[in-house]
Amino acid sequence: MAVDFRYRRLGYLTLNVTDIGKSSAFATDVFGMDAAGEGEGGARFFRTGPNHHDIMLVPAEKAAFARSSWELESEDDLDQALAHYQRIGLAPQLVPHDEAASLGLERAFRIVEPKLNTIWEYYARMSYTSVPRKNTLTKFQGGKHYGLITPDCKAVTDYMVENMGFLVSDYLEGWGAALLRAFPNPNHHSFAPLGFPAPKPMFHHLAFMVEEIDDIGKLFNRIKRFDVQIQFGIGRHPTSGSIHLYIYDPDYFVWEYTLGMEQFPETGAREPRRMSSAPENLDLWDARPDTQHAAKFPGLVTG
Ligand SMILES: [Fe+2]
Repeated sequence: MAVDFRYRRLGYLTLNVTDIGKSSAFATDVFGMDAAGEGEGGARFFRTGPNHHDIMLVPAEKAAFARSSWELESEDDLDQALAHYQRIGLAPQLVPHDEAASLGLERAFRIVEPKLNTIWEYYARMSYTSVPRKNTLTKFQGGKHYGLITPDCKAVTDYMVENMGFLVSDYLEGWGAALLRAFPNPNHHSFAPLGFPAPKPMFHHLAFMVEEIDDIGKLFNRIKRFDVQIQFGIGRHPTSGSIHLYIYDPDYFVWEYTLGMEQFPETGAREPRRMSSAPENLDLWDARPDTQHAAKFPGLVTG
């Protein structure tokens, strides 16, 4: 561990979408989130719990993953992270006060990591919403993760372990995929660099942890009524042991429900496993990902 700051969680993700109305309807009516107000430039927020938002959708010409935002444990951690990224030459930029306020954040900064050139935002305090959620479709557990497709999964992994405070929980033999946890967050993975389906930088999926199998079963039936297509599942990952269902949104962003992820203790955690990449080991329930639409996966906004 080369960093001196501590992650609390993956805070929120920002997606550029081509039809804000359609994507908003997907977020609420299919995925089960609550609309949580608007931000700058017609952006819309959605939440799955008491935090100000978990997703920000931004109207844009082209669908793309815009950035990930990470919550640290304290304001001291934020100061240490800022100093760390200054030290290693990533030139962190403070988010202007008004913009941070519109995001429900006390203060924040951004960096561009040098492997995929994606934008990472860090903050420690996000506004807490007291009004209970109204959408009762799904019980969200609160955990999240996302995955990006990269030509060099090993290089991204090594950089993140050496410079960004991540630990490897498991990886696929040949480094076709790695599952990284944001120390000391106990979730098996909060970020996954993946070498497939195409070896060029693209967005792969975003995932929300749910509370019970009913949440996944109900989504499975609900998507039929909305003519939403499945990308992968229902299945069970051999790595984290989680049950999963991945679906396409109107821009071919893939959204996942995931249930039952392995938890890692802060000290004495097991070593990463080198997982078999044989097809029969891909999914414990024999699920196979859809490959038909892989070329339509959105790209990445780079800094
Ligand atoms: Fe996932």
